[in-house]
Amino acid sequence: MARLGKNDVVSIEDLTTVEIERIFELADSFAASLERGAALDRAHGLIMATLFYEPSTRTRLSFESAMHRLGGAVISSADMQASSAAKGETLADTVRVVGAYADLIVVRHPRDGAARVAAEYAPCPVLNAGDGSREHPTQTLCDLYILRRKKGRLHGLTVAICGDLKFGRTVHSLIYALARFGANIVAVPYNGMNVPGYVLDRVAAQGKYGLSTVTMEELRSLAGGIDALYLTPNAPHQMALFTAEMPLGGAPPAAAPPAALDAFYLTRLQRERMDDKESAAGKYGRFDARALKTSRTHEAVVMHPLPRTDELAYELDSDPRAVYFEQAAAGVPVRMALIAWLLEQNGIERARPAAPAPAIRFKAHPAPRCSNPGCISRHEGAYLAPRFRLGRSADPTVLALICEFCERELKIEFVGHARTRRYYRFDENLYGYVRSWIEEGALAVFESVKQAEESGYEPYRRGPQREIMNAEEVAAACRALATQMAADLPDFAAVTIVGVVSHGALLAMRLRDLIEAETGARPPCAALDVFGGEAAFHPLDGAGGRLEVGERTIALVDDVINSGWTVQRAMAALWQRGRPAAVKLAVLIDCGHRAVPIRPNYVGKHIPTARAERVQVRLTPPAGTAAGRAKVQDRVVVYSMVESLKEGAGAG
Ligand code: NCD
Repeated sequence: MARLGKNDVVSIEDLTTVEIERIFELADSFAASLERGAALDRAHGLIMATLFYEPSTRTRLSFESAMHRLGGAVISSADMQASSAAKGETLADTVRVVGAYADLIVVRHPRDGAARVAAEYAPCPVLNAGDGSREHPTQTLCDLYILRRKKGRLHGLTVAICGDLKFGRTVHSLIYALARFGANIVAVPYNGMNVPGYVLDRVAAQGKYGLSTVTMEELRSLAGGIDALYLTPNAPHQMALFTAEMPLGGAPPAAAPPAALDAFYLTRLQRERMDDKESAAGKYGRFDARALKTSRTHEAVVMHPLPRTDELAYELDSDPRAVYFEQAAAGVPVRMALIAWLLEQNGIERARPAAPAPAIRFKAHPAPRCSNPGCISRHEGAYLAPRFRLGRSADPTVLALICEFCERELKIEFVGHARTRRYYRFDENLYGYVRSWIEEGALAVFESVKQAEESGYEPYRRGPQREIMNAEEVAAACRALATQMAADLPDFAAVTIVGVVSHGALLAMRLRDLIEAETGARPPCAALDVFGGEAAFHPLDGAGGRLEVGERTIALVDDVINSGWTVQRAMAALWQRGRPAAVKLAVLIDCGHRAVPIRPNYVGKHIPTARAERVQVRLTPPAGTAAGRAKVQDRVVVYSMVESLKEGAGAG
């Protein structure tokens, strides 16, 4: 028996849509053979280990049943308190050891990000059976499988997800998956247990889906008279309910007819993940048959990952629309299918999602620590260094670092440069510098002035800044760029404009508008964050759909080239997504010095500068965006890199 390839399923996003469809095809055939009582030996000789650090009934037993049904064997640690974990063994050590006894590990753990750590350390594939409040991908497979069976499709469903949306890991994986299938998701948080920002941030990069949030009270009135309920998009995440189609970011068509609800997905309060204050707050909702009585809900199925507590009335059990026991039963054929799919992958090179940008290496000690008390990095510190990537905070006075394990945002107020040993209070204008310091491996971050100074850093101030281009000159340079592009680029039907986040992306949208005015063509436009990993390539301005790189001519846009490293990185990120027919580079300002052999095809303006000078482009963000409320005038300024506060302290 060949060992399984190292295909971990930590997130539902580790499986492509095509792979999910294949798993369902296999599940259908296993469901039929289970029905016939046929004996199977597909997994003969394989051993699966189940390591459960948290209670489980359905997930563990259905995984184990699935493996037995496939003719494989199971070794199980159903209660890790009875294992060496109770003696303080780390997760990494446990999975390395168990990986020598089994071909496949299924793990459930109370910490956010634990499954990823297990996957990194185990020599064999790891399947996430629930990690803290993060994800539960195999439950989502069961949920989708039943939805597809009941509704005949997965695309474009309208699903109300009710309950504890903050800590409910089944909900998070389900949202990621439904968004991918273009669903209209109606989030109904109980007691303010809202979908966390990090989940919304992740789905925001998906194509076309809708997500609206309504309160429990609104749901009640919906249950009483859904036909009359029709909310309008007057607040963020509060969009029209049940519109037939809701493009992300745009207002739904005003006269769209309300669509029917396909499913209610209920969840229990995840009390074990809350502090006492949270779990005592408010009253949790209870769902009963009344909600299914309206013309817009009578076709809806009622789902629940189980176990239920008080949120779901027993009276519903005999209703044919109650499908939660079918979801639980699907655990066996679906998990059989997942194991069989893993077997099918042996020897096959899978198309992997683009590798995320490497974690930031911090200079200065101590390195930052994740602020989420439930994060695995806080509990397995003996071997697990905190890992962060760069985020974008809504607050311009803090630098957002995103924890690689749990995706929570850490807000940093003070940043420093390790070579010059200067520190600054962060503001948005430093973002570009911070990116280049990360490239150099020179970023230091501090919680306070005291911490910075104790680490041997001194305060830093920028040299005086002088304006070198005003708004009119910026507009002229943009026009010059657009004219060059319009004249040189081939058929615009094959062109995609890609702007490097953040100013390159603003510029890309402007150039697209100018090109449209000049040629009538409106090529798709996307933003690329070279530090943002997989989710960092997203359509701009309603371009919609999946962005193709292969065979396209990419017009890569950035505001200014200083060293050229960012452009180099952007090209690498593009190539991970496909092989473009050509890449043309457009920059607003070229300062003339370079660390890599890169030369722009189109330049708005050449501004030769001294090496210690930095050119900074400020562009007014489009109206209607959060950033657009800030009063920023188009301008280009230049200032010197380093100026010490102390006489003669020496600048790097
Ligand atoms: C869920 C879980 O463990 O996250 N249970 C399950 O696997 N079906 C849901 C829950 O415990 O609420």
